[in-house]
Amino acid sequence: MPDVKPTKENKAEVYETLYEYVKGLLDSSLPLITNMSNFVALLHHTFEYHWTGFYMINKEGTELVLYPFQGPVACTKIGKGKGVCGAAWERATTIVVPNVDEFPGHIACSSFSKSEIVVPLFDNKGEVVGVLDIDSAELDTFDDEDRKGLERLLSLFSDIV
Ligand code: SME
Repeated sequence: MPDVKPTKENKAEVYETLYEYVKGLLDSSLPLITNMSNFVALLHHTFEYHWTGFYMINKEGTELVLYPFQGPVACTKIGKGKGVCGAAWERATTIVVPNVDEFPGHIACSSFSKSEIVVPLFDNKGEVVGVLDIDSAELDTFDDEDRKGLERLLSLFSDIV
């Protein structure tokens, strides 16, 4: 794991270091859940988040299903348009939520979650296949630097999803 300690000031630098590291970490010859498992461990422990994980769209295209994550036990299924995850899927865009109590329909898997970011995962045809959900125990954790950094990191998955 790269030895980087994120602060508000060095986020862009941290994402750059992670990007180079993840390029080496992902191995297209291994199952997707293997690659996702190490990726969420890396993000979770670098930033010390409350919860970090993937939800992937089921094969019927009806709901998101829990995939590799780090943190407390979580909801296993989320419908399209439901909660922040379902909304990011439906809108095919990243959603930053500074205060989860102010997001209508937020699904509270853990009462410790105060803010979150959900980033859609696109395949190489540009279709949404899942989302990355990150929850923080503090308010207002995520900003545009996180959106850019995470979207760029997830682009490394588009050929292996
Ligand atoms: N925060 C999500 C639910 C999933 S858990 O937080 C892990 C949402 O409202 O979409």
